[in-house]
Amino acid sequence: MTNVTGPLIAAIVPAAGRGERMGPGTPKALRLLGGAPLLAHAVRALSRARSVDLVVVAAPPDQVAAVRDLLADHHAGAALKVVPGGATRQESVRRALATLPDSVVTVLVHDAARPLAPVELVEAVAAAAQAGADGVVPAMPVSDTVKRVEGNVVVETVDRQALRAVQTPQGFSRAALEEAHLEASAVEATDDAALVERLGRRVVVVPGAEEAFKVTRPLDLLLAEAVLAKRRADGVS
Ligand code: C5P
Repeated sequence: MTNVTGPLIAAIVPAAGRGERMGPGTPKALRLLGGAPLLAHAVRALSRARSVDLVVVAAPPDQVAAVRDLLADHHAGAALKVVPGGATRQESVRRALATLPDSVVTVLVHDAARPLAPVELVEAVAAAAQAGADGVVPAMPVSDTVKRVEGNVVVETVDRQALRAVQTPQGFSRAALEEAHLEASAVEATDDAALVERLGRRVVVVPGAEEAFKVTRPLDLLLAEAVLAKRRADGVS
């Protein structure tokens, strides 16, 4: 552990999903990228960030011990804890939150499915959260034209200038994130910031990173392999 008074910044990694859009087989977080599971890359990126003291992984409940073994060599710099995840992403985050030591004041949440998020992005989100925002999300401009549809009929073309596609890691004050999860037991959101927004709290954006893209479908894994190969060729991985 890097902090003598106990961890101040913890990063939660929900990694308990089946990842059905990737096709049948191994849970998505455990699929291999450049010979190591997606999850190992995500944990390595978080623990390389100097500001992160503790990484808590929510693993598939039947694979907690296996995931702990798997990650043993991938968390230099930060302490690691592996806990059982839940039936939904939100439940997995909630379970991990419940295990944090009292000393933690800032919490990052990062999808295992974003294995190549740069360390600089982790640091930027952590810094903005520590500077006092209730929530921080990395955001990218939207390059496609976006339309609202009903059935197969277009009802509106949305002004994309005002839209952002958001990534993880997202950063929060621990108090805001805990309250958001407590209030949200009957709601399902696709990210944690949405729960904090529901409380009327201030969520701000920082510039996202192209390499923090989410591996959702088989094509994303091909792209991730290419990015990793380039990093290795450049000696930066
Ligand atoms: O399915 P999706 O790509 O949105 O999942 C985002 C993240 O949430 C993944 O890292 C996945 O492993 C995690 N998750 C989880 N528990 C679930 C479902 C998803 O930790 N029950």
